[in-house]
Amino acid sequence: MKKNHRLNKFIINLPNFFWDLWCCLSIIGIWPRFIENKLVSKTFKRFKIPYLPKDLQGLKIAQFSDLHLHPQVSQRFLKKIKRKIESFQPDIIVFTGDFLCFSLSRDLMRLEQFFASLKAPYGCFAVLGNHDYNAFVSVNEKGEYDVLPSSTGSINKVLKRLWTNKILARRVTDHARAVKPHEELEKALKNTHFRLLKNESLLVPIKGSFINIIGLEEYSTGRHAPRLAFQTVDPHFPGLVIAHNPDIVPHLLNFSWDVILCGHTHGGQVNLPWLWKKFTLMENPYLKKGLICMQNKWIYVNRGIGSIMPFRWFSMPELLLLTLEA
Ligand SMILES: [Fe+2]
Repeated sequence: MKKNHRLNKFIINLPNFFWDLWCCLSIIGIWPRFIENKLVSKTFKRFKIPYLPKDLQGLKIAQFSDLHLHPQVSQRFLKKIKRKIESFQPDIIVFTGDFLCFSLSRDLMRLEQFFASLKAPYGCFAVLGNHDYNAFVSVNEKGEYDVLPSSTGSINKVLKRLWTNKILARRVTDHARAVKPHEELEKALKNTHFRLLKNESLLVPIKGSFINIIGLEEYSTGRHAPRLAFQTVDPHFPGLVIAHNPDIVPHLLNFSWDVILCGHTHGGQVNLPWLWKKFTLMENPYLKKGLICMQNKWIYVNRGIGSIMPFRWFSMPELLLLTLEA
């Protein structure tokens, strides 16, 4: 009797124990640096789309984002991602940009092998992120979108971010506009099942119906061209948009689509009050992560699975399985 009472007490106190453990590990930096960034959570969402054709009812779309593959990403981590995506049994797989780190092609062979190992019955689609051009584009000291050197990820620069207060100028420099998609990356993707969409749309046949899949180029390079991307969209069928940077969303609201999947923000990466804004500069902070509904359109901002700085806090790597329903 006494034993049972002790056991019950132990079970009841378990959540408190793990919370205390998490707090201790966080304070000394072990959790965000060595544990959280290596975990992968699965998110399940069901989006209601009015007038969804019967043949698209229950369509399953897996999204992953921001792999940022570099030599320190372990093969075990890649296997875990693949296993979890396969466990979704998705009809379609999409990748929403940032294959690389700082536009460096240090691990292209492994990247090609990883993407080639994924496939889905109705296809795999991808867009480029700001790390996937022939030069790395991010926010410069003046708050403009600009070409930056790849040393931006050094610990000194990261710490400097804590003390500076950058305000986005919402301007793209001529240097940033002049970047081109990373040639070797594009070449590697041609050997995989992933179709790269650069300001274009495809009408994908599914059973007796269709879905429009629209892919946009990266917003911070100024290369995104919604008019071009949407010109062949058939408005009689649902529209799924894929774009890297969620700051593009307000510029797309007048076009015909139902769902947009984005990444880029890493969910704030260090998702603590005040601190996240130092690591994630956004024009529209309400698009930091998760599900947002605007004008009867669904927006999902994925926390991504990788990172250029090897730590995450309250922003666990994420894979999304989205199911469409009427
Ligand atoms: Fe990005």
